[in-house]
Amino acid sequence: MFLKNAWYVAAWDHDITRDLQQIMVLGEKICVFRSEVGALVALEDACPHRKLPLSKGRIKGDTVECGYHGLTFNCVGQCVWAPGSGGIPSNAKVHAYPLHEKYGLVWIWMGNPALADPADIFEIENYDNPAWGINRGAAMELDCNYLLMCDNLLDPTHVAWVHQSSFAADATKDTPLRITKTENGVIVHRWMMDHEPAPFYRKVVEFEGNCDRLQHYEVRYPSHALIKAVFTPAGTGGPDGSLHENTFIMDSYNFMTPTDEGRTRYYWFQLRNIRPDDDELSRMMSEDVQHAFEEDRDVLNEVQKGMSNKTSPHIDLPIDGGQLRFRRQLQAMINEERQVDRQMAE
Ligand SMILES: [Fe+2]
Repeated sequence: MFLKNAWYVAAWDHDITRDLQQIMVLGEKICVFRSEVGALVALEDACPHRKLPLSKGRIKGDTVECGYHGLTFNCVGQCVWAPGSGGIPSNAKVHAYPLHEKYGLVWIWMGNPALADPADIFEIENYDNPAWGINRGAAMELDCNYLLMCDNLLDPTHVAWVHQSSFAADATKDTPLRITKTENGVIVHRWMMDHEPAPFYRKVVEFEGNCDRLQHYEVRYPSHALIKAVFTPAGTGGPDGSLHENTFIMDSYNFMTPTDEGRTRYYWFQLRNIRPDDDELSRMMSEDVQHAFEEDRDVLNEVQKGMSNKTSPHIDLPIDGGQLRFRRQLQAMINEERQVDRQMAE
């Protein structure tokens, strides 16, 4: 089940071109392309006549011609030509999805188009800040439900076991978590004081010796995460810490787009407050992060199988508190949306 009145990431902006392409979001097949002036278009990928995907047809100027009988649709999904002498049936149309380009990503609104407001797209602090560097990797395909990835991104503890060569330190095993429910999601965070930086961060922090480390894991509805890592010399961190001029901050953005109930497309990039133009650093960070996310993928693909085919009940632990709260609230939002849809249909 999915929240439909929400923005999801459909693609990287450079992936949508003048070629007709099919993408799948929330189980819906969608034909995407750019108009002659470069505007983004997303149409339901099924001709209303015999349901051949429009992406199997031809682009003609700013219209799409079905590859079966030539029915032709404009950028808002209206049929503008149909074969035969009977004219164009009034119900010859396909749904047109609102799209918006931001942060190098194309965002798609899956619900009622009248409610689509680009101001509701996830806010990314420092995206245009020239003092911050960015590294990006390719989108990843996960063979699991999107909520398993949301669980993972509300779970600072898993790094101790899943990411031993990169993000793990002794303190990540058992320092207690703090859980906060916000207006638009859940935050799980903790400060770990005076310990050795984990291997990945040892390579990038610009100070010697031990650190105080913040793990801030935040997921916002429906499925977008900010994972903030702060590393500051021991004695300068903590909730009331002054931080040091050499404090290293990495904001990791993670956008999960459900392909369907069992598959997820995962877009990510990191912003860092050091060496913005250092391409070698960006490359190294992308490679290391991608390696860590592949570790997550291996675990989550197996968790999907384990949880869908379980022969005995699973258990929850106190560390799951943030995830369970997130899932409960998202489910309440989905239920509310369905109730409104039912009322409108009556
Ligand atoms: Fe992870």
